Amino acid sequence: MVTTIGIIGAGEVGSQLARAVIRNGYQVVIANSRGPETLARLVAELGPAARAATAADAAAAGDFVIIAVPLKLDNDMPTPQLAGKIVLDTNNYMPWRDGHYEVVDSGEKTVHEIRQEQLPTSKVAKAFTHIQAPRLFLSASPAGTPGRHALSVSSDFPEAVELVTRLYDQLGFDTVDNSPLSASWRSGPGQPAWNAHAHQTRDQLAANLAAARPLGTRENHDDRQ
Ligand SMILES: NC(=O)c1ccc[n+]([C@@H]2O[C@H](COP(=O)([O-])OP(=O)(O)OC[C@H]3O[C@@H](n4cnc5c(N)ncnc54)[C@H](OP(=O)(O)O)[C@@H]3O)[C@@H](O)[C@H]2O)c1
Repeated sequence: MVTTIGIIGAGEVGSQLARAVIRNGYQVVIANSRGPETLARLVAELGPAARAATAADAAAAGDFVIIAVPLKLDNDMPTPQLAGKIVLDTNNYMPWRDGHYEVVDSGEKTVHEIRQEQLPTSKVAKAFTHIQAPRLFLSASPAGTPGRHALSVSSDFPEAVELVTRLYDQLGFDTVDNSPLSASWRSGPGQPAWNAHAHQTRDQLAANLAAARPLGTRENHDDRQ
């Protein structure tokens, strides 16, 4: 049985992830905000394993779903169609792009805890956030390669961590589990794990996550575990 991944967001990350997962035998249903007809060129390039849809249809079609769209406090994701599914969220908190979110700046919540609240019956995992989209290909290497590039995952659900770990491995990356979602600020913009995005091994990434410090106006202030 071929696994279908719904991908909401067809920009830099959504399109590169589509290329990467199709290369690894998945089918993709991909969406943007402007409608499936605007994705004709991308879908033609991706080939028969891909089709374009609305965000709601991509969510409904996916065995699991990737959201590659900046988080809005006013939820713009298709919550009913994502119900019960594992949802990988690539969002990074970028105040210069999205504006300041007081609830995040104050340390009350991480952006991925907010996404989890917006999708209450989904199982959200923060994934693919501290790698530039083209490096999904440039930095990939087979399991067991010395110095293999590692990526972090954060979730409140072990089954979501397992799925992301398997997917990272298929795409060419080791995993460091940085759960739960309240700890996900440790891999956020400006933190050591983020600054080392060009390359870090599993040990280096674990050390960089441990070395994270609150940045005041960016992500969270403590893990609140
Ligand atoms: N670029 C990177 O290398 C990178 C790496 C890791 C993580 N990230 C993070 O991943 C997220 C996506 O980044 P990106 O660089 O791919 O952004 P991007 O190139 O600007 O693409 C964003 C995509 O989201 C779609 N979109 C926006 N609102 C939507 C909605 N309500 N429903 C459906 N689709 C919607 C846009 O569709 P339209 O164009 O039709 O509006 C577009 O296809 C960001 O949070 C970013 O910080 C980026």
